[in-house]
Amino acid sequence: MGGVYNKGVNLNRRERNIAMFGGSFNPPHNAHVELALRMREEFSLERVLFVVASDPPHKSIDGGVDANTRLALTKAALRDVDGLEACDVELRRRGKSYTADTLRELARRYPEARLWLVVGEDMLENMPHWREPEAIFALATVAAASRPGALEDIRRTAAGLRARYGADVRISAFGEEDVSSTAIRARVFDARPVSRLVPPGTEELIWELSLYQPAEIRLAQTKLRASLNPERYRHSVGTMRCAVELAERFGFDGKKARLAGLLHDCAKLPHDQILALAARYAIVPDAYDRANPGLLHDRVGARYAREAYGVSDAEILSAIAGHTRLEKGMSAFSRMIYLADKIEHTRDYPGVEAIREAARTDMDRAALLCMENVLAHLRDKGCDVQPNIYEAIEELNRIIRSKEERH
Ligand SMILES: [Fe+2]
Ligand SMILES: [Fe+2]
Repeated sequence: MGGVYNKGVNLNRRERNIAMFGGSFNPPHNAHVELALRMREEFSLERVLFVVASDPPHKSIDGGVDANTRLALTKAALRDVDGLEACDVELRRRGKSYTADTLRELARRYPEARLWLVVGEDMLENMPHWREPEAIFALATVAAASRPGALEDIRRTAAGLRARYGADVRISAFGEEDVSSTAIRARVFDARPVSRLVPPGTEELIWELSLYQPAEIRLAQTKLRASLNPERYRHSVGTMRCAVELAERFGFDGKKARLAGLLHDCAKLPHDQILALAARYAIVPDAYDRANPGLLHDRVGARYAREAYGVSDAEILSAIAGHTRLEKGMSAFSRMIYLADKIEHTRDYPGVEAIREAARTDMDRAALLCMENVLAHLRDKGCDVQPNIYEAIEELNRIIRSKEERH
Protein backbone atom coordinates (compact mmCIF):
# COMPACT_ATOMS: atom_id res chain seq x y z
CA MET A 1 0.00 0.00 0.00
CA GLY A 2 1.01 3.63 -0.23
CA GLY A 3 2.88 2.83 -3.42
CA VAL A 4 2.52 6.38 -4.64
CA TYR A 5 5.58 7.33 -2.60
CA ASN A 6 8.16 5.40 -4.50
CA LYS A 7 6.75 3.99 -7.71
CA GLY A 8 8.92 5.23 -10.54
CA VAL A 9 9.89 8.47 -8.85
CA ASN A 10 12.26 10.42 -11.03
CA LEU A 11 13.80 13.30 -9.16
CA ASN A 12 15.97 14.40 -12.05
CA ARG A 13 13.08 15.73 -14.05
CA ARG A 14 12.95 19.51 -13.93
CA GLU A 15 9.19 19.66 -13.81
CA ARG A 16 6.91 16.81 -13.06
CA ASN A 17 3.28 17.01 -13.98
CA ILE A 18 1.13 14.99 -11.62
CA ALA A 19 -2.62 14.95 -12.07
CA MET A 20 -5.41 14.13 -9.68
CA PHE A 21 -8.48 12.51 -11.16
CA GLY A 22 -11.01 12.05 -8.39
CA GLY A 23 -14.13 9.95 -8.48
CA SER A 24 -16.02 7.16 -6.79
CA PHE A 25 -15.01 4.76 -9.60
CA ASN A 26 -17.98 2.55 -8.93
CA PRO A 27 -16.85 0.96 -11.17
CA PRO A 28 -14.02 2.58 -13.15
CA HIS A 29 -14.68 2.17 -16.86
CA ASN A 30 -13.06 2.53 -20.26
CA ALA A 31 -14.03 6.17 -20.71
CA HIS A 32 -12.23 7.04 -17.43
CA VAL A 33 -9.10 5.31 -18.70
CA GLU A 34 -9.33 6.83 -22.17
CA LEU A 35 -9.90 10.30 -20.77
CA ALA A 36 -6.89 10.01 -18.45
CA LEU A 37 -4.67 8.68 -21.24
CA ARG A 38 -5.71 11.45 -23.48
CA MET A 39 -5.03 14.10 -20.85
CA ARG A 40 -1.69 12.49 -20.09
CA GLU A 41 -0.71 12.77 -23.73
CA GLU A 42 -2.09 16.21 -24.35
CA PHE A 43 -0.67 17.88 -21.24
CA SER A 44 2.52 15.79 -20.90
CA LEU A 45 1.46 14.44 -17.51
CA GLU A 46 3.89 12.08 -15.89
CA ARG A 47 1.08 10.33 -14.14
CA VAL A 48 -2.58 10.57 -13.47
CA LEU A 49 -3.65 9.47 -10.01
CA PHE A 50 -7.14 8.00 -9.86
CA VAL A 51 -8.06 9.24 -6.39
CA VAL A 52 -10.77 6.95 -5.11
CA ALA A 53 -13.34 8.78 -2.98
CA SER A 54 -13.92 7.44 0.51
CA ASP A 55 -17.31 6.14 1.62
CA PRO A 56 -19.72 8.88 2.61
CA PRO A 57 -20.29 8.74 6.38
CA HIS A 58 -23.33 6.80 7.61
CA LYS A 59 -24.52 5.56 4.26
CA SER A 60 -23.35 3.22 1.57
CA ILE A 61 -22.94 4.35 -2.00
CA ASP A 62 -24.93 2.89 -4.90
CA GLY A 63 -24.54 -0.83 -5.19
CA GLY A 64 -23.15 -1.03 -1.65
CA VAL A 65 -19.58 -1.34 -2.89
CA ASP A 66 -17.17 -0.01 -0.27
CA ALA A 67 -14.15 2.20 -0.86
CA ASN A 68 -11.57 -0.57 -0.56
CA THR A 69 -13.36 -2.64 -3.18
CA ARG A 70 -13.57 0.39 -5.47
CA LEU A 71 -9.84 0.87 -4.95
CA ALA A 72 -9.29 -2.78 -5.95
CA LEU A 73 -11.47 -2.29 -9.06
CA THR A 74 -9.44 0.79 -9.95
CA LYS A 75 -6.12 -0.97 -9.44
CA ALA A 76 -7.36 -3.79 -11.65
CA ALA A 77 -8.41 -1.30 -14.33
CA LEU A 78 -4.99 0.35 -14.40
CA ARG A 79 -2.82 -2.71 -13.86
CA ASP A 80 -1.24 -2.65 -17.29
CA VAL A 81 -1.56 1.02 -18.11
CA ASP A 82 1.57 3.16 -18.00
CA GLY A 83 1.31 6.42 -16.12
CA LEU A 84 -2.12 5.87 -14.61
CA GLU A 85 -2.29 4.81 -11.00
CA ALA A 86 -4.90 4.13 -8.34
CA CYS A 87 -4.43 6.33 -5.29
CA ASP A 88 -5.74 5.73 -1.79
CA VAL A 89 -4.94 9.11 -0.25
CA GLU A 90 -8.60 9.90 0.50
CA LEU A 91 -9.18 6.47 2.02
CA ARG A 92 -6.39 6.99 4.47
CA ARG A 93 -7.89 10.19 5.75
CA ARG A 94 -10.80 10.07 8.17
CA GLY A 95 -14.07 11.77 7.38
CA LYS A 96 -15.14 13.45 4.19
CA SER A 97 -12.38 14.43 1.79
CA TYR A 98 -12.39 17.71 -0.03
CA THR A 99 -10.46 18.23 -3.24
CA ALA A 100 -8.51 21.15 -1.72
CA ASP A 101 -7.29 18.91 1.13
CA THR A 102 -6.30 16.15 -1.25
CA LEU A 103 -4.37 18.56 -3.45
CA ARG A 104 -2.54 19.87 -0.38
CA GLU A 105 -1.65 16.31 0.55
CA LEU A 106 -0.39 15.66 -2.98
CA ALA A 107 1.61 18.90 -2.88
CA ARG A 108 3.34 17.55 0.23
CA ARG A 109 3.99 14.21 -1.42
CA TYR A 110 5.30 15.71 -4.63
CA PRO A 111 6.87 19.00 -3.53
CA GLU A 112 8.66 19.54 -6.82
CA ALA A 113 5.69 18.72 -9.04
CA ARG A 114 3.22 20.84 -10.85
CA LEU A 115 -0.24 19.59 -9.92
CA TRP A 116 -3.16 19.16 -12.25
CA LEU A 117 -6.78 18.40 -11.58
CA VAL A 118 -8.73 16.42 -14.15
CA VAL A 119 -12.44 17.21 -14.23
CA GLY A 120 -15.36 16.14 -16.39
CA GLU A 121 -17.31 18.75 -18.32
CA ASP A 122 -20.22 18.75 -15.90
CA MET A 123 -17.91 19.47 -12.96
CA LEU A 124 -16.20 22.62 -14.13
CA GLU A 125 -19.32 24.71 -13.83
CA ASN A 126 -19.86 23.61 -10.25
CA MET A 127 -16.37 24.29 -9.02
CA PRO A 128 -17.17 27.68 -7.44
CA HIS A 129 -19.46 25.74 -5.07
CA TRP A 130 -16.76 23.31 -3.99
CA ARG A 131 -15.01 23.91 -0.71
CA GLU A 132 -12.13 26.43 -1.05
CA PRO A 133 -12.17 26.99 -4.81
CA GLU A 134 -9.45 29.65 -4.45
CA ALA A 135 -7.14 27.08 -2.87
CA ILE A 136 -7.91 24.52 -5.56
CA PHE A 137 -7.12 26.94 -8.37
CA ALA A 138 -3.97 28.09 -6.61
CA LEU A 139 -2.76 24.53 -6.16
CA ALA A 140 -3.59 23.01 -9.51
CA THR A 141 -4.00 23.59 -13.19
CA VAL A 142 -7.41 22.32 -14.22
CA ALA A 143 -7.68 19.96 -17.17
CA ALA A 144 -11.32 19.91 -18.22
CA ALA A 145 -12.77 17.34 -20.58
CA SER A 146 -15.30 18.47 -23.11
CA ARG A 147 -17.36 16.72 -25.72
CA PRO A 148 -17.03 18.56 -29.03
CA GLY A 149 -20.63 19.78 -28.87
CA ALA A 150 -20.11 21.39 -25.46
CA LEU A 151 -16.87 23.13 -26.31
CA GLU A 152 -18.28 26.68 -26.45
CA ASP A 153 -20.03 26.36 -23.08
CA ILE A 154 -16.91 25.00 -21.45
CA ARG A 155 -14.79 27.78 -22.88
CA ARG A 156 -17.17 30.34 -21.44
CA THR A 157 -17.13 28.65 -18.04
CA ALA A 158 -13.33 28.47 -18.12
CA ALA A 159 -13.09 32.17 -18.98
CA GLY A 160 -15.34 32.97 -16.03
CA LEU A 161 -13.13 30.96 -13.65
CA ARG A 162 -10.04 32.65 -15.01
CA ALA A 163 -11.53 36.09 -14.46
CA ARG A 164 -12.84 35.33 -10.97
CA TYR A 165 -10.04 33.19 -9.50
CA GLY A 166 -7.12 33.52 -11.87
CA ALA A 167 -7.69 29.85 -12.57
CA ASP A 168 -5.51 28.09 -15.13
CA VAL A 169 -7.98 25.96 -17.05
CA ARG A 170 -7.01 23.83 -20.07
CA ILE A 171 -9.65 22.20 -22.18
CA SER A 172 -9.40 18.89 -23.93
CA ALA A 173 -12.03 18.01 -26.50
CA PHE A 174 -12.96 14.46 -25.75
CA GLY A 175 -15.04 12.74 -28.35
CA GLU A 176 -15.54 9.31 -26.81
CA GLU A 177 -18.97 7.80 -26.46
CA ASP A 178 -20.66 8.40 -23.19
CA VAL A 179 -20.26 5.60 -20.67
CA SER A 180 -21.44 5.94 -17.11
CA SER A 181 -20.82 3.89 -14.01
CA THR A 182 -24.55 4.01 -13.29
CA ALA A 183 -25.35 2.40 -16.65
CA ILE A 184 -22.70 -0.26 -16.05
CA ARG A 185 -24.15 -1.16 -12.65
CA ALA A 186 -27.60 -1.42 -14.20
CA ARG A 187 -26.32 -3.68 -16.97
CA VAL A 188 -24.64 -6.06 -14.52
CA PHE A 189 -27.83 -6.15 -12.43
CA ASP A 190 -29.86 -6.99 -15.54
CA ALA A 191 -27.44 -9.74 -16.67
CA ARG A 192 -26.10 -7.85 -19.67
CA PRO A 193 -22.43 -7.92 -20.68
CA VAL A 194 -20.07 -5.07 -19.75
CA SER A 195 -16.93 -6.42 -21.40
CA ARG A 196 -16.78 -3.54 -23.88
CA LEU A 197 -17.29 -0.92 -21.20
CA VAL A 198 -14.80 -1.75 -18.45
CA PRO A 199 -11.17 -2.93 -18.50
CA PRO A 200 -10.82 -6.74 -18.35
CA GLY A 201 -9.29 -6.86 -14.85
CA THR A 202 -12.13 -4.78 -13.46
CA GLU A 203 -14.74 -6.88 -15.21
CA GLU A 204 -13.29 -10.06 -13.78
CA LEU A 205 -13.47 -8.64 -10.26
CA ILE A 206 -17.05 -7.44 -10.76
CA TRP A 207 -18.12 -10.98 -11.62
CA GLU A 208 -15.93 -12.72 -9.10
CA LEU A 209 -17.00 -10.58 -6.15
CA SER A 210 -20.64 -10.57 -7.29
CA LEU A 211 -20.73 -6.77 -7.38
CA TYR A 212 -23.88 -4.94 -8.55
CA GLN A 213 -25.80 -8.22 -8.79
CA PRO A 214 -29.30 -8.80 -7.44
CA ALA A 215 -29.50 -10.32 -3.96
CA GLU A 216 -30.39 -13.82 -5.16
CA ILE A 217 -27.28 -14.01 -7.33
CA ARG A 218 -25.06 -12.68 -4.56
CA LEU A 219 -26.48 -15.29 -2.23
CA ALA A 220 -26.03 -18.15 -4.70
CA GLN A 221 -22.50 -17.01 -5.43
CA THR A 222 -21.56 -16.87 -1.73
CA LYS A 223 -22.89 -20.36 -1.22
CA LEU A 224 -21.19 -21.71 -4.31
CA ARG A 225 -17.86 -20.18 -3.33
CA ALA A 226 -18.08 -21.96 0.02
CA SER A 227 -18.81 -25.37 -1.51
CA LEU A 228 -16.50 -25.59 -4.55
CA ASN A 229 -12.73 -25.47 -4.74
CA PRO A 230 -11.37 -22.05 -5.79
CA GLU A 231 -10.54 -23.15 -9.31
CA ARG A 232 -13.98 -24.63 -9.88
CA TYR A 233 -15.53 -21.49 -8.46
CA ARG A 234 -13.57 -19.32 -10.88
CA HIS A 235 -14.63 -21.57 -13.72
CA SER A 236 -18.28 -21.26 -12.63
CA VAL A 237 -18.03 -17.48 -12.54
CA GLY A 238 -16.32 -17.56 -15.94
CA THR A 239 -19.15 -19.69 -17.31
CA MET A 240 -21.72 -17.26 -15.93
CA ARG A 241 -19.92 -14.35 -17.56
CA CYS A 242 -19.58 -16.20 -20.86
CA ALA A 243 -23.23 -17.34 -20.81
CA VAL A 244 -24.32 -13.72 -20.33
CA GLU A 245 -22.23 -12.69 -23.36
CA LEU A 246 -23.60 -15.51 -25.51
CA ALA A 247 -27.18 -14.79 -24.41
CA GLU A 248 -26.86 -11.17 -25.52
CA ARG A 249 -25.21 -12.18 -28.79
CA PHE A 250 -27.75 -14.85 -29.73
CA GLY A 251 -30.91 -13.44 -28.18
CA PHE A 252 -31.46 -15.60 -25.10
CA ASP A 253 -32.68 -14.57 -21.67
CA GLY A 254 -29.58 -13.16 -19.94
CA LYS A 255 -30.92 -13.70 -16.43
CA LYS A 256 -31.54 -17.39 -17.02
CA ALA A 257 -28.15 -17.69 -18.68
CA ARG A 258 -26.49 -16.04 -15.67
CA LEU A 259 -28.02 -18.47 -13.20
CA ALA A 260 -27.52 -21.57 -15.35
CA GLY A 261 -23.90 -20.63 -16.03
CA LEU A 262 -23.19 -19.93 -12.37
CA LEU A 263 -24.75 -23.15 -11.07
CA HIS A 264 -23.97 -25.61 -13.86
CA ASP A 265 -21.22 -27.25 -11.76
CA CYS A 266 -22.89 -26.84 -8.35
CA ALA A 267 -22.68 -30.61 -7.83
CA LYS A 268 -19.05 -30.91 -8.94
CA LEU A 269 -18.23 -32.34 -5.51
CA PRO A 270 -16.02 -35.21 -4.33
CA HIS A 271 -17.15 -38.52 -5.91
CA ASP A 272 -18.56 -40.02 -2.74
CA GLN A 273 -20.80 -36.98 -2.31
CA ILE A 274 -21.96 -37.07 -5.93
CA LEU A 275 -22.80 -40.76 -5.60
CA ALA A 276 -24.65 -40.17 -2.33
CA LEU A 277 -26.68 -37.39 -3.94
CA ALA A 278 -27.37 -39.57 -7.00
CA ALA A 279 -28.71 -42.29 -4.71
CA ARG A 280 -30.86 -39.79 -2.85
CA TYR A 281 -32.33 -38.48 -6.12
CA ALA A 282 -32.71 -42.02 -7.50
CA ILE A 283 -30.51 -41.22 -10.49
CA VAL A 284 -29.22 -44.50 -11.90
CA PRO A 285 -25.68 -44.34 -13.27
CA ASP A 286 -25.21 -45.81 -16.76
CA ALA A 287 -22.11 -47.75 -17.80
CA TYR A 288 -20.44 -44.55 -18.83
CA ASP A 289 -21.08 -42.95 -15.41
CA ARG A 290 -19.89 -46.06 -13.60
CA ALA A 291 -16.50 -45.72 -15.29
CA ASN A 292 -16.35 -42.10 -14.21
CA PRO A 293 -18.78 -41.13 -11.42
CA GLY A 294 -17.82 -37.48 -11.80
CA LEU A 295 -19.94 -37.39 -14.96
CA LEU A 296 -23.07 -37.68 -12.85
CA HIS A 297 -22.57 -34.12 -11.64
CA ASP A 298 -24.68 -32.78 -14.50
CA ARG A 299 -27.92 -34.64 -13.71
CA VAL A 300 -27.25 -34.58 -9.99
CA GLY A 301 -26.50 -30.86 -10.38
CA ALA A 302 -29.95 -30.12 -11.78
CA ARG A 303 -31.61 -31.71 -8.76
CA TYR A 304 -29.14 -30.11 -6.37
CA ALA A 305 -29.66 -26.66 -7.92
CA ARG A 306 -33.34 -27.05 -7.14
CA GLU A 307 -32.85 -28.38 -3.64
CA ALA A 308 -29.92 -26.30 -2.40
CA TYR A 309 -30.29 -23.13 -4.50
CA GLY A 310 -34.04 -22.98 -4.95
CA VAL A 311 -33.96 -22.94 -8.75
CA SER A 312 -37.28 -24.00 -10.24
CA ASP A 313 -37.02 -22.86 -13.87
CA ALA A 314 -37.24 -25.94 -16.11
CA GLU A 315 -35.07 -24.47 -18.87
CA ILE A 316 -32.25 -23.69 -16.44
CA LEU A 317 -32.49 -27.09 -14.77
CA SER A 318 -32.38 -29.02 -18.00
CA ALA A 319 -29.41 -26.98 -19.21
CA ILE A 320 -27.56 -27.93 -16.01
CA ALA A 321 -28.56 -31.57 -16.45
CA GLY A 322 -27.22 -31.64 -20.00
CA HIS A 323 -24.11 -29.49 -19.81
CA THR A 324 -21.48 -32.24 -20.06
CA ARG A 325 -22.85 -34.19 -22.97
CA LEU A 326 -24.75 -32.59 -25.70
CA GLU A 327 -27.54 -34.93 -26.69
CA LYS A 328 -30.08 -35.12 -29.42
CA GLY A 329 -33.18 -33.05 -28.74
CA MET A 330 -31.55 -30.56 -26.41
CA SER A 331 -32.83 -26.98 -26.51
CA ALA A 332 -30.83 -24.14 -28.03
CA PHE A 333 -30.56 -22.61 -24.55
CA SER A 334 -28.94 -25.81 -23.26
CA ARG A 335 -26.52 -25.81 -26.18
CA MET A 336 -25.52 -22.30 -25.26
CA ILE A 337 -24.78 -23.28 -21.64
CA TYR A 338 -22.88 -26.33 -22.87
CA LEU A 339 -20.79 -24.02 -25.02
CA ALA A 340 -20.24 -21.38 -22.31
CA ASP A 341 -18.88 -24.12 -20.04
CA LYS A 342 -16.34 -25.12 -22.72
CA ILE A 343 -15.08 -21.71 -23.81
CA GLU A 344 -15.23 -19.43 -20.74
CA HIS A 345 -12.07 -17.38 -20.29
CA THR A 346 -10.25 -19.65 -17.81
CA ARG A 347 -10.44 -22.61 -20.21
CA ASP A 348 -7.21 -23.45 -21.93
CA TYR A 349 -6.93 -26.54 -24.14
CA PRO A 350 -5.80 -27.17 -27.70
CA GLY A 351 -8.47 -25.92 -30.08
CA VAL A 352 -10.32 -23.64 -27.67
CA GLU A 353 -9.44 -20.48 -29.61
CA ALA A 354 -10.99 -21.84 -32.80
CA ILE A 355 -14.17 -22.66 -30.90
CA ARG A 356 -14.27 -19.18 -29.34
CA GLU A 357 -13.79 -17.71 -32.79
CA ALA A 358 -16.71 -19.74 -34.18
CA ALA A 359 -18.86 -18.70 -31.21
CA ARG A 360 -18.57 -15.07 -32.25
CA THR A 361 -20.99 -15.68 -35.06
CA ASP A 362 -22.58 -19.13 -34.80
CA MET A 363 -23.03 -20.96 -31.52
CA ASP A 364 -24.18 -24.20 -33.15
CA ARG A 365 -21.10 -24.40 -35.30
CA ALA A 366 -19.05 -23.69 -32.19
CA ALA A 367 -20.87 -26.43 -30.26
CA LEU A 368 -20.22 -28.82 -33.12
CA LEU A 369 -16.51 -27.98 -33.11
CA CYS A 370 -16.54 -28.63 -29.39
CA MET A 371 -18.07 -32.08 -29.81
CA GLU A 372 -15.70 -33.02 -32.60
CA ASN A 373 -12.86 -31.89 -30.39
CA VAL A 374 -14.09 -34.10 -27.52
CA LEU A 375 -14.55 -37.04 -29.85
CA ALA A 376 -11.05 -36.74 -31.30
CA HIS A 377 -9.59 -36.40 -27.83
CA LEU A 378 -11.38 -39.50 -26.50
CA ARG A 379 -10.40 -41.55 -29.52
CA ASP A 380 -6.77 -40.48 -29.18
CA LYS A 381 -6.73 -41.61 -25.62
CA GLY A 382 -8.50 -44.84 -26.54
CA CYS A 383 -11.35 -43.98 -24.18
CA ASP A 384 -14.96 -45.03 -24.48
CA VAL A 385 -17.04 -42.57 -26.38
CA GLN A 386 -20.33 -41.24 -25.04
CA PRO A 387 -22.82 -43.66 -26.61
CA ASN A 388 -25.08 -41.18 -28.34
CA ILE A 389 -22.47 -38.64 -29.39
CA TYR A 390 -22.84 -39.52 -33.10
CA GLU A 391 -26.57 -38.87 -33.03
CA ALA A 392 -25.97 -35.55 -31.31
CA ILE A 393 -23.37 -34.55 -33.91
CA GLU A 394 -25.69 -35.61 -36.69
CA GLU A 395 -28.47 -33.47 -35.26
CA LEU A 396 -26.22 -30.43 -34.91
CA ASN A 397 -25.14 -30.83 -38.52
CA ARG A 398 -28.80 -30.86 -39.52
CA ILE A 399 -29.50 -27.72 -37.50
CA ILE A 400 -26.57 -25.92 -39.12
CA ARG A 401 -27.59 -27.06 -42.63
CA SER A 402 -31.15 -25.90 -42.18
CA LYS A 403 -29.95 -22.50 -40.97
CA GLU A 404 -27.76 -22.20 -44.06
CA GLU A 405 -30.68 -23.08 -46.33
CA ARG A 406 -32.80 -20.38 -44.75
CA HIS A 407 -30.18 -17.76 -45.49
FE1 LIG B 1 -19.47 -29.70 -15.46
FE1 LIG C 1 -18.12 -26.70 -15.98
